[in-house]
Amino acid sequence: MRRQEHTPRLLMDLDAVAASHRRMTAALPGVTLHYAMKCNDFPPVLSTLNDLGCRFEIASARELDLLLPLGVDAGQVLFSNPVKAPAQIARTHALGVRRFAFDSVAELDKLAALAPGAEVFVRIAAPDIDSEVPSEGKFGVDPGAAAALLLTARDRGLRPYGIAFHVGSQMMRPAAWRAPLTAAGEIMARLAADGIRLEMVDLGGGFPARYDVPPPPAAEYGAVIAAGLSTLPYPVRAVAEPGRALVAEAGTLVATVIGTAERAGRRWVHLDVGAFNGLMESLETGNRLHFPVWDSLDRDPVPCHLTGPTCDSQDTILFGVPLSRGLSTGDQVFIGSAGAYTSVYASSFNGFDTPFVEAVGGSRPDGTHRTLAVH
Ligand SMILES: Cc1ncc(COP(=O)(O)O)c(C=O)c1O
Repeated sequence: MRRQEHTPRLLMDLDAVAASHRRMTAALPGVTLHYAMKCNDFPPVLSTLNDLGCRFEIASARELDLLLPLGVDAGQVLFSNPVKAPAQIARTHALGVRRFAFDSVAELDKLAALAPGAEVFVRIAAPDIDSEVPSEGKFGVDPGAAAALLLTARDRGLRPYGIAFHVGSQMMRPAAWRAPLTAAGEIMARLAADGIRLEMVDLGGGFPARYDVPPPPAAEYGAVIAAGLSTLPYPVRAVAEPGRALVAEAGTLVATVIGTAERAGRRWVHLDVGAFNGLMESLETGNRLHFPVWDSLDRDPVPCHLTGPTCDSQDTILFGVPLSRGLSTGDQVFIGSAGAYTSVYASSFNGFDTPFVEAVGGSRPDGTHRTLAVH
């Protein structure tokens, strides 16, 4: 079997990544984008965004290792994971990272010892955590505690740099940014009385991608955010950390049917990809994330339960999804909007292959473009 025919395969359309970046920068004028690379760390995706002037957000030192060969300036990278192992702080600081998130005194103690003089930003809790992909509730403190922590940071010789929040991934309500921006303004006002002027407000990620239904227009997010930023007591540098919105729609998972079955009047289609080797968000969302799906026969659709290759019954991707009648072993199924939180989550549980990631689109050295031809 030739390599490009091997499945599961995740095709990343680099032109689509660039288009998403253009859409977001247009919708958020004056906001600097730092791509949350945890969501897809495929080097051609990283270099496409780097070439477009996008900056980066990391959650670990190993992510920084992928950025440095691209010529990314570590001094412009945000290390936004609020709790970091001491060795990760020391290593990234030695490599030039200067901006670190935190939400506890214990983290400040580590930062003061291992990244002296660093610029630190406090993570505040986002009160609305009803995003489509459950992802919040673990990090962040209330505004009073945040102000106190930034004062403690100053006492430890660190530079109180900013405030960050994350409204939750695949947030379909632009209004979710309102309350945390109001809280950020309160903290800034409180600290001004103590002679501290912050430089950054970090709007986090959470910007949605299109799955089965279109999200609200990007401009609606831009309008709420611009209004929120305008109420801050003094101007700051606004940054955002989009992940999913930049790469989800650019990805198509190509899978092969490994078997079919009729069980209790339901048709089951088993693929060589499932929750454990690429589609973990099916599991995380209780199958509520409706990836667009189509297949190589493309005729006479009937409802099917689409499931993965493992022996684990939690492995199911979607229930009652229309696929061609007669779809059988060896046919292909395509899963769209699969560029975010797929390959990076994949494990070889039960001995199955993780997706081979391949770039399509984008300029090639000979100046031509390849196109995605799987529809
Ligand atoms: C700190 C931080 N920033 C940004 C993101 C990206 O979120 P999204 O992919 O929803 O844009 C995440 C995701 O969990 C995160 O933890």
